[in-house]
Amino acid sequence: MCGIVGGVTNKDITALLLEGLNRLEYRGYDSSGLIVLSKNNSFDRIRSVGKVRNLENILKAREQKISGNIGIAHTRWATHGEPSIDNAHPHISMNSVSLVHNGIIENYIDLKNEQLNRGYSFSSETDTEVIAHAIDFAMKSCNTLISSVQLAIKSFSGSYGLGVISSKYPDQIIATRKGSPLVIGIGTNGNYIASDQMALLSVTKEFIFLEEGDVAEIKIDKITIYDLNGNLVVRPIKISMLKAGSVDLGNYDHFMQKEIFEQPQAIRDTLESRITNDSIVISAFGFKAEKKFNKVKQVQIIACGSSYNAGLVAKYWLEDIAKIPCNVEVASEYRYRRPIILNDTLFVTLSQSGETADTVEALKAAKIINCNICTLCITNSAESSLTRLSDLTFLTHAGPEIGVASTKAFTTQLVSLALLACSIGKLQNTINRSQEKSIINGLKKLPGLIHKALHQEEKIKKLATRFQNKNSALFLGRGTMHAIAMEGALKLKEISYIHAEAYPAGELKHGPIALIDKDMPVIAIAPNDELLEKLKSNLQEVKSRGSQMIVFEDENSLIEPMEAMEVISITSNVGRITAPIIFTIPLQLLSYHVALSKGTDVDRPRNLAKSVTVE
Ligand code: G6P
Repeated sequence: MCGIVGGVTNKDITALLLEGLNRLEYRGYDSSGLIVLSKNNSFDRIRSVGKVRNLENILKAREQKISGNIGIAHTRWATHGEPSIDNAHPHISMNSVSLVHNGIIENYIDLKNEQLNRGYSFSSETDTEVIAHAIDFAMKSCNTLISSVQLAIKSFSGSYGLGVISSKYPDQIIATRKGSPLVIGIGTNGNYIASDQMALLSVTKEFIFLEEGDVAEIKIDKITIYDLNGNLVVRPIKISMLKAGSVDLGNYDHFMQKEIFEQPQAIRDTLESRITNDSIVISAFGFKAEKKFNKVKQVQIIACGSSYNAGLVAKYWLEDIAKIPCNVEVASEYRYRRPIILNDTLFVTLSQSGETADTVEALKAAKIINCNICTLCITNSAESSLTRLSDLTFLTHAGPEIGVASTKAFTTQLVSLALLACSIGKLQNTINRSQEKSIINGLKKLPGLIHKALHQEEKIKKLATRFQNKNSALFLGRGTMHAIAMEGALKLKEISYIHAEAYPAGELKHGPIALIDKDMPVIAIAPNDELLEKLKSNLQEVKSRGSQMIVFEDENSLIEPMEAMEVISITSNVGRITAPIIFTIPLQLLSYHVALSKGTDVDRPRNLAKSVTVE
């Protein structure tokens, strides 16, 4: 939700700001902008609506090139105020302060009224402009930029990651964060800030991850950090394991396509060192995990979007394998109700980014309701708000996921959740050694099986053209496949803008069957499991209403092809853990190719953002 990048260097900063914006575009692309302090210490700003390439085109067309050693930039996902030039960041107050912001200032209307009375004027509809004016006002009574920012932020409620520069202090950037991510990159030619380390990989691998409420003064050769109480602090420097190339497209056309095809390797990486001698390494969840999992009596899973769908699959596994009750709920609902959280609850947050605001807040709320619970986060981001707030962390090792529609993060979450169910089952003796071995063997076969499923791409691509003129689609599955159908429907909605719904196949007759006619494509998932015969009856019910159907089956499900029904075999005799992971693949490919045939922006679908760090 909005991306920030900035730096103070001994070189021209403009190219790095643009590169950083491109790398951060997954966080929003309603508008972008950058500002530098030029040689005479005056602001030089450009802004543009839409994607970063529009900003690049404006820059190229400008006669007088932008250049400076200090600058900040922003790519926006609009919350307050429509996507427009006036609402694009950076914002400026009184030609003295300029800033970029990620987050929401909830009390901005009160602050705005106060500032109007003080004589400030507003050129945008954003909540952000009040921050710039508040810092400018604070500068009247403070003698440094950092103390002005420290004073101003006292008046804000809400969340912020901020990069602030001032024409009166041309040698520094002030960075601060609360509820939104912000890292400092330490380079040889200067120091930098960004919402995500990926933006800075071309200039550094050394990062400082700011804590909640930290305020930092960043100069070319010196970084000074104060905590939220104003105490001088030293935060550890971490070396990033990410490679600059891992966030490039390589030979692929889209990040989503690249990430779909990376799944065999992503799963191998997720399993690596988590299994030894066909046995799960429980300490992979943290050194205290064994003690905690021994006592767990119920599991609560909290997540949003695709991560929520992964949680729904895990409920089946935890109840079936570990024999403990499991609830799954979307974070935006959970955080605002008064849930009962029993002792010995394992509270699991699932999140690719580790930064989704609702998930982070739900975790904080749960810890207040019952401080005795054990908290585990399963995330793809080692340095994130969720990892900092949780007792235990399990990293999915999917590698950077750039495409807004989640693919490899989802399947590696499923692998991680299977390991979790198996770990608790093993410790609580609900599975024996041979059952553990068989689950592990299934997981180890996944990369090969996914590879095989990916081979069906050409057939799926042909079917995708049928969706070009469709307005709706229905996805059917039973058991864990209902959650996978939900993920398939979400993927189609997200990137092709076709309305899609998922239903448990047995529930169809209680309403949605009324929607079925020749214009409503139905996509069904048919693994060879104990519900297969029931599913076959459900398919007959749909077929007899004239629907155009696509069935993704297990070779041994032996679905009889009929007129207007395409059956594609995806796999052969896979188990209850591996099946949902493998049947995700054709649904990802289908939505990818439908989006391509409709000509939508696959990696940056309208109105969405990869990481939703605002409520
Ligand atoms: C956004 C993304 C989804 C993602 C969801 C949760 O809506 O577009 O792809 O599933 O956030 O993100 P998280 O990082 O918490 O898994």
